Amino acid sequence: MATTLILGATGNLGGLTAERLYGAAPKDLRVASSRERGASRLRDRFPQAETVLCDWNDEDSVVAAMHGVSRVFVVTPDMVTDESVVTSNVVNAAKKVGSIELLVRLLGMPPGYTIEQADPAYVAARCGAGLHVVAKPLLDASGLPVAYVNAPAWIMFNLASFVATEVRPRRRIAMPASTDCPRMWVSEGDVAEVAARILLGDPTDHAGKEYVLTSPDRHDYAGLAAIFTEVLGETVTYADDDSALQAAMGPAFDQLMTYLSHETGSYAGVQHLDTMTELLGRPQETLHDYVTTHKELFS
Ligand SMILES: NC(=O)c1ccc[n+]([C@@H]2O[C@H](COP(=O)([O-])OP(=O)(O)OC[C@H]3O[C@@H](n4cnc5c(N)ncnc54)[C@H](OP(=O)(O)O)[C@@H]3O)[C@@H](O)[C@H]2O)c1
Repeated sequence: MATTLILGATGNLGGLTAERLYGAAPKDLRVASSRERGASRLRDRFPQAETVLCDWNDEDSVVAAMHGVSRVFVVTPDMVTDESVVTSNVVNAAKKVGSIELLVRLLGMPPGYTIEQADPAYVAARCGAGLHVVAKPLLDASGLPVAYVNAPAWIMFNLASFVATEVRPRRRIAMPASTDCPRMWVSEGDVAEVAARILLGDPTDHAGKEYVLTSPDRHDYAGLAAIFTEVLGETVTYADDDSALQAAMGPAFDQLMTYLSHETGSYAGVQHLDTMTELLGRPQETLHDYVTTHKELFS
């Protein structure tokens, strides 16, 4: 049977994708963490799957993790990885093991965006498009069978990270106005389901493809507040205030602000396509659906 390796399995999207693969064929799943504590959590969460330790800064450990694997899903975190190292190691390891039929890489960047178009400060922030614009050309040039799941949108788990702490006690969306723009939103559950369907499918159907996941609607912070107002049945307002974001991000606040100052413009021209609905075979989750389902996070 085909073994699928998830690099980033303790993370949000990697974990949700692993859950879906585990549900389909638990013994065909190999999950990886770079930390023993992460590996221990993975053993508890996916007891019938194989858990491995893998640090993608160390090519040999990626080679060992890929041994006997035919499909790989890679989700790198924002703000941390040097993609020129990590993606090069992943590419080299995949070539060395020689058994990879499909490497699926999570991206978040406007389709067609290149490093030449990106401000160096955007790239240095190692976040979103600034991160993926380094990784994609390395994968494109690798000759490996790569498929991209690209979400040039905000993933709805940002609501828990960025706004829940102010919505709960004060019924406010508190975010700096300089980061406001009409954004597309996709849910982490939908992104993971798309990734799982691709990984479970015929690799030849997906190699060379870029699946761009967008939403038909865009919402700015005032629009977001209106959705919260409707779902919670109480008035939620937007406030130009960066204190909650500062508290959430700590020392990474400036790095995030650098990223957002570029993202607000670079994602504006992204066109919506029905790719998500077509791949899922059902309507995609809306922000309204998501806030309703996760109401307890905000109540
Ligand atoms: N937030 C958004 O709105 C949005 C939108 C579009 C795209 N994206 C993209 O989504 C990605 C983030 O997704 P996420 O939140 O699911 O990620 P995440 O939760 O931050 O997970 C990142 C994973 O990386 C692993 N990792 C970290 N260092 C490692 C190392 N040295 N070797 C091997 N594994 C390592 C972590 O595992 P261990 O620590 O256990 O090793 C973790 O499982 C980013 O690429 C971002 O640009 C985000």
